[in-house]
Amino acid sequence: MTTPDHLTHVTHPLVQHKLTIMRDKATSTAVFRQLLREISQLLAYEVTRGLPLTTKTIETPMQAMDAPVLDGKKLALVSILRAGNGLLDGVLELIPSARVGFVGLYRDEETLQPVEYYCKLPDAMGERLVIAVDPMLATGNSSVAAIDLLKQSGATNIRFLCLLAAPEGIARMKAAHPDVPIVTAAIDEKLNENGYIVPGLGDAGDRMFGTK
Ligand code: URA
Repeated sequence: MTTPDHLTHVTHPLVQHKLTIMRDKATSTAVFRQLLREISQLLAYEVTRGLPLTTKTIETPMQAMDAPVLDGKKLALVSILRAGNGLLDGVLELIPSARVGFVGLYRDEETLQPVEYYCKLPDAMGERLVIAVDPMLATGNSSVAAIDLLKQSGATNIRFLCLLAAPEGIARMKAAHPDVPIVTAAIDEKLNENGYIVPGLGDAGDRMFGTK
């Protein structure tokens, strides 16, 4: 398997066009969710690049052939709640046999550190490629904590898929988990004083679920 670079910025025109519509505050919840599903499939194409293949013998209508199929144990998709679910749906459509896990973290208002409130992961994490999904890599605090949990469960081959990344979050992830490649559709300018990505798209969970 080829290991991707630490950071892959997906500049494909379709991804960039869809992302611009998602950023626009006038875009409705329904359109935002549909575009997120479409983009997640395009990003899934990148994050699964280099997956190992083997061959199996099949019969085409013309003759027998040894044809390529994915090798190894089914991969695990892990959604970092709650916004991760928006990316999860599209990726799962493309890789329907993937196993799915969920990690829920909240921020302790005193320590500002992420605290786990939910974690349900597939078995044999150490034998699978694990793709953690969260649309926004902002401070990196929750992403780093989620990857910590995945490693504690035995995962050794992890990739992180997001839609937008802030330079601060990328640096934090690289320092804490240099072995985890990041795939993103955009690298934005910075975080604001509230830890939101700017120019960003606002609160990804609120935008996709219609909450405030
Ligand atoms: N989470 C979001 O949903 N948006 C941001 O800009 C940062 C974190």
